Amino acid sequence: MTDPRATSITLQVNGQPFTIEVPPDTPLLWALREWLGLTGTHYGCGMAQCGACTVHVNGVPTRSCVTPVSAVGAARITTIEGVAGPAADAVRDAWLRRTVPQCGYCQAGQIMSAVALLTTHPAPTDADIDRAMAGNLCRCGTYPRIRAAIHDAAQAMSSAAQQSDARPDAPAPAQVPPNHS
Ligand code: FES
Ligand code: FES
Repeated sequence: MTDPRATSITLQVNGQPFTIEVPPDTPLLWALREWLGLTGTHYGCGMAQCGACTVHVNGVPTRSCVTPVSAVGAARITTIEGVAGPAADAVRDAWLRRTVPQCGYCQAGQIMSAVALLTTHPAPTDADIDRAMAGNLCRCGTYPRIRAAIHDAAQAMSSAAQQSDARPDAPAPAQVPPNHS
């Protein structure tokens, strides 16, 4: 039966609009998982204590379990399924190389927080990492690998930026054939 409090709400998720009929206090996490089928974002505690449900709202890591859909408005929501860009690419690559996940349950949230950190702090210190990742818990204790992978991703982003800076903007001069006359 439809909830009498249901109202039409349009969310901008991973670059696309989605209109759903839900009560305004519906947690964003349920809208993503139950209505949009984006199940990569996980439920852990439901109390903003574990970070498993982290998504980006206008680029800011946000606990979707305690964020009502009515509070999101027209903000850009990005989930693990849609996160993209140099920081996301570097983090995914580093996560694979370091084999960071163990059971994997917390890892979507960890990755979303790591991408947000590297987007704003491309060369984070250990203290920056600890601060940014403090709200993302891992019962498997993958913290050392997470920290190492974030440093790896930062290094990869820096190397890519240096290579791109070193690339000449002007096209190479045309080769002049040797004159045999
Ligand atoms: S499920 Fe949202 S912080 Fe734990
Ligand atoms: S990898 Fe198992 S909870 Fe983090």
